Amino acid sequence: MAVPLFDTRTPLAALRADLNAKAAEVLDAGRYILGPEVSAFERELSAQLGAPHVLGVANGTDALVLALRAMGVGPGDDVVVPSFTFYASAEAIALIGANPVFCDIDPAHYCVTAETVRAALTANTKVVMVVHLFGNVAPVDEIAALGVPVLEDAAQALGSRIADGRRAGALGAAATFSFFPSKNLGAFGDGGAVATADAGLAETLAMLRFHGSRDKVSFELVGHNSRLDELQAALLRIQLPHLDAWCDGRRAAAAHYEAAGLGELVGLPQPVDGCEPAWHLYVIRHPRREALAAALGAAGIGNKRYYATPLHRQTAMRPWSDVELPGTEEAARTHLAIPMSPVLTREQADEVVAAVRDADLD
Ligand SMILES: Cc1ncc(COP(=O)(O)O)c(C=O)c1O
Repeated sequence: MAVPLFDTRTPLAALRADLNAKAAEVLDAGRYILGPEVSAFERELSAQLGAPHVLGVANGTDALVLALRAMGVGPGDDVVVPSFTFYASAEAIALIGANPVFCDIDPAHYCVTAETVRAALTANTKVVMVVHLFGNVAPVDEIAALGVPVLEDAAQALGSRIADGRRAGALGAAATFSFFPSKNLGAFGDGGAVATADAGLAETLAMLRFHGSRDKVSFELVGHNSRLDELQAALLRIQLPHLDAWCDGRRAAAAHYEAAGLGELVGLPQPVDGCEPAWHLYVIRHPRREALAAALGAAGIGNKRYYATPLHRQTAMRPWSDVELPGTEEAARTHLAIPMSPVLTREQADEVVAAVRDADLD
């Protein structure tokens, strides 16, 4: 039995009629930009996150650019960021003329720690960007205690929680999300959001996404055209009430892997202390990653190396590449994503674990 790397179709199948009806409603209403669906989605996501302000934007990369600008980051400032993440995390920093200062991760959970961040702080550090990678939750409180504002890149962690019940995206000075179709909450195209408890920051963000204007008549800032589409917001609203159950499904999938004995064969991703990750991706580690990937591929088991070349070794990041990041290098060399979805069954987990067991890894 083949097992795909993700399954976004099955969870959406039950919602198809509601999605079709909602799309028709928006087309009939004829309002496509910053209308009632975007406002309602922002309110509903804000309530679910426990973050007082949410602003829909065009995608998760713009969300980072706008959040950094709203937090006052500009040319010449330093922003600490992990190297083991999707390129957009660092790209957003360089795009606004600031310097990504790459910090290390703990390969056991793939996130930054207070120690790795502290080692990267400079006199010019304006913001620390933590990435809640693969659905794990970086220790924001400990990092914020270092005294620099924290921006959470929560693109991969919608639905993840920490021990006291607070959610990823409601922990730092601001947080960003992506609704790329494969994310925990996926649009039918691009989409993103910024969340914050700071009313002043929210006001600036509302202007930045709208050409630096409040009314499209007077322009107070040099801004962007970066809005979440009304149609995408409407379709996200249909899915949002199901997000927590889908995240429970992701946790159940991780439990299936553990119950099937995967931890005896490979390194399992560890939750950061006390947190409950809504595993966006389930990323194991093995020193013979290439042999494992080939064996899984041959058995029809979806798998993928996500960040085999970490950001500090990417061509465009050469000006900021003079760092040594042993945890990052280890994760880059050994990580492999295996199937994960809200509907991954015990049978599918058994199939994946059997294929790992059968792989010749000696
Ligand atoms: C960690 C991380 N940051 C930022 C982004 C950028 O989001 P988007 O693709 O919506 O621009 C993504 C996802 O694609 C991501 O995984």
